[in-house]
Amino acid sequence: MNAVATERAASTTARFFPVALDSIDSAALSMDLYIRVGTMDVPVLYRSTGVAFDDADRQRLAEQGHEFLYVPLAQHAAFRRQLASRLDHLYHNPEQRRLERMRMVRAACSRMIEDVLSFPGQPEMLEAVTDISRTFARWSHEDPELFGHLVDLSSHDYYTATHMVNVGANCGVLARALGITDPVAQAPLILGGLLHDVGKRGVPVEILNKEGKLTPDEWKILIRHPEAGAEELRAVPGVPAVVVDMAYCHHERLDGTGYPRGLLDPQISLAARICTVADVFDAISATRPYRGPIAPDKVLDMMAEGVPNHFDRDVFAAWSQIVRGMVAKDPGRAATTGDMAGRSITLRTFLPETTVVPDRGTGSDRGRPLLVGSERRRHARKSCDLMLRIQFIRQGKTDGPAGQGWVTVRAIDISPSGLQLETPWPLSRNDLLVIELAQPGGRTLFRKGRVVRVRAGGGNTWRAGVEFVTTE
Ligand SMILES: [Fe+2]
Ligand SMILES: [Fe+2]
Repeated sequence: MNAVATERAASTTARFFPVALDSIDSAALSMDLYIRVGTMDVPVLYRSTGVAFDDADRQRLAEQGHEFLYVPLAQHAAFRRQLASRLDHLYHNPEQRRLERMRMVRAACSRMIEDVLSFPGQPEMLEAVTDISRTFARWSHEDPELFGHLVDLSSHDYYTATHMVNVGANCGVLARALGITDPVAQAPLILGGLLHDVGKRGVPVEILNKEGKLTPDEWKILIRHPEAGAEELRAVPGVPAVVVDMAYCHHERLDGTGYPRGLLDPQISLAARICTVADVFDAISATRPYRGPIAPDKVLDMMAEGVPNHFDRDVFAAWSQIVRGMVAKDPGRAATTGDMAGRSITLRTFLPETTVVPDRGTGSDRGRPLLVGSERRRHARKSCDLMLRIQFIRQGKTDGPAGQGWVTVRAIDISPSGLQLETPWPLSRNDLLVIELAQPGGRTLFRKGRVVRVRAGGGNTWRAGVEFVTTE
């Protein structure tokens, strides 16, 4: 970037902040919305305050590839007020199944955390996350059972923003079980969970997702994150001390073998103990690029070995009871694709019972089934013109759509073993992504894919061959 462009980008960042499409409520706008057009650095006005915004607008923008709109920094307070209403709407929306509502709330919150990670030192971003923690605490107070459904027991992917939302929700549920029921006391614990890994911003993704042992140098970089996070949070006026403490101490162990300071049992606060259990549970449960998810009861068994050296006995007992209770009540909620601990992901055919129908975008295949489950020939490719949504789990290049939000792209052929995407930016080999596949009857299926080849298409486009990733 040349000096002028750098300066312009800096001033853009200073005047606007990005808001995820998911975080804009369907209502008359309480703030101006700006949009980025083409390669222009400065966003242009999309809709003014007072004008209506609805689901159809959100859908259309997503199809056009807009993940974010922009709000002037001066209107941040208005945005925060509407974000609270948006989250309430998603959380209580009677038209959506409970599981889907919870997924949408987690996704919207995860975008806000991504913003905190992308814009270090912007107090406005942190204030929005503080609002989220208060909303969570209020929900937990109003209906603890419903709030418990925010705990993510299903198969989910690990990357920092999602993980932080999960840990925030886990901390809220755990705090309540330990008798901290007052929303005013609970909110900082939730906030600590939402921000505990903020120091990971500086850790390269290759280290975060590395399979196997880290080298001594990589380890040195990783273990800096609690201190880096605590330092950053301490510098922001108004951040409660307990939030700083949770960021600083969530990798300490009661027997003194943790990091960064090797604290011993009496030196570790209850808040940090809560965060540790909430954190490790989500980190082990989640899918990593090198392995699938692990079922909750198996995770608890694995964690039980860490009592009492690593985890606090009472905190772990409370968490164990919560999770086992949730699974017993609703086994489907804990669905993973099987227990794959320690096994490598292999590329295999999938789609045993899948029919893919295009239901979004303007592709010429709209409404016509493209693949039906009976087609078992792995390489029976069908050309198509299908707009679908992808989300990166791991992204090698940064000159595409940076970040992990949903992006709409075109699929030009599809087979039971993968698909070919056409994109305006090059993907990289070994990028890992989640692909949203529409099913008949409005159902949606998510499949993980790995980019296996990339080549230039015509007219400034690239083509990426993606193989579905599944286990044997
Ligand atoms: Fe951490
Ligand atoms: Fe963590």
